[in-house]
Amino acid sequence: MLASRMFARGFASSSFQRGAKVAVLGAAGGIGQPLSLLLKLNPHVDRLALYDIVNTPGVAADISHINTNSVVTGHKGPEQLGDALKDSQVIVIPAGVPRKPGMTRDDLFNTNAGIVKTLAEAAAKYAPKAHLLIIANPVNSTVPIVAEVFKKAGVFDPSRLFGVTTLDVVRASTFVGQVKNSNPEEVKVHVIGGHSGVTIMPLLSQTGIKFSQDEIEKLTHRIQFGGDEVVKAKDGTGSATLSMAQAGARFTDSLLRALAGEKGIVEPTYVKSHVAEKDGVEYFSTNVELGPNGVKKIHDIGPVSDYEKKLYEAAIPELKKNIAKGVQFVNKA
Ligand code: NAD
Ligand code: LMR
Repeated sequence: MLASRMFARGFASSSFQRGAKVAVLGAAGGIGQPLSLLLKLNPHVDRLALYDIVNTPGVAADISHINTNSVVTGHKGPEQLGDALKDSQVIVIPAGVPRKPGMTRDDLFNTNAGIVKTLAEAAAKYAPKAHLLIIANPVNSTVPIVAEVFKKAGVFDPSRLFGVTTLDVVRASTFVGQVKNSNPEEVKVHVIGGHSGVTIMPLLSQTGIKFSQDEIEKLTHRIQFGGDEVVKAKDGTGSATLSMAQAGARFTDSLLRALAGEKGIVEPTYVKSHVAEKDGVEYFSTNVELGPNGVKKIHDIGPVSDYEKKLYEAAIPELKKNIAKGVQFVNKA
């Protein structure tokens, strides 16, 4: 750990020479707490600012006792939001309500759109150059909401805004590993599109693994609706928190390493993208190479099977609708 910290500090060729300040907004929640814990263990983090409307003093005091070389601060309520955000290189946003059984992610829009808009307005004011990692659902719409807020404030840079879709990739590795009896850590699946139901498209044909058509259909459905499995099992108490914290910490770590100058880091993430522009879709997830300024190179979709072409056709109208809803929310009279 000491060695990688020295790497981060001594050899960085990035926009920051020391470890980063990372702010977590929604830090006292089901995702926020374990995510903050994992970030406290990350050697690239110098300062960890934990913000929520409740309970952050306790969470921050607790996490601050962990003996890693970063400073933790707790911030509660809107009057302390500016301090949490100021000087942040990375802002992670898991603030918002989770699903209950029977709900779609879009059903969260009415509550979460307003929360994300308010937090984005503060980020545009206090940390306009930070990288924003959006976890709050519906991600397909909350990312465009943040973009529109930043555009209005005149500080939008698409290379610094990310919808966190890492959990879909994590699930895809796990489910394929289970079916093929292989180590899930070694299974890499390119998951493209968005983060809800049919907009989640695992490209199993690109894995190099042989599947029967039945396996492809069952695995695709399970990856698309993996979130529902957890919502159902939690029986009204929430959605994925622990696996999401791990996925969020993985994406944050990848970005921090790229910001610190490490090369060749690629993660699928939902960004403003050229990839599906011809079909009228402005935000789309594919593999993205991360660099010292955030998005370095957006990879294309790559070769797809006929089955995956049909997935794409089904996803496009839903993505368009979700994106338009987010854009309109910010720009309504
Ligand atoms: P939670 O209810 O346990 O925690 C949410 C936290 O947000 C709470 O602590 C709450 O106080 C806080 N909050 C509410 N309004 C706020 C505001 N204005 N400012 C700051 N904090 C505020 O929910 P959770 O299980 O942690 O889920 C959070 C969100 O993440 C949900 O929208 C959920 O759907 C989403 N999620 C996304 C993914 C993904 O893959 N992107 C995965 C899992 C969950
Ligand atoms: C997930 O994929 O687990 C999250 O988006 C939460 C949810 O509502 O399913």
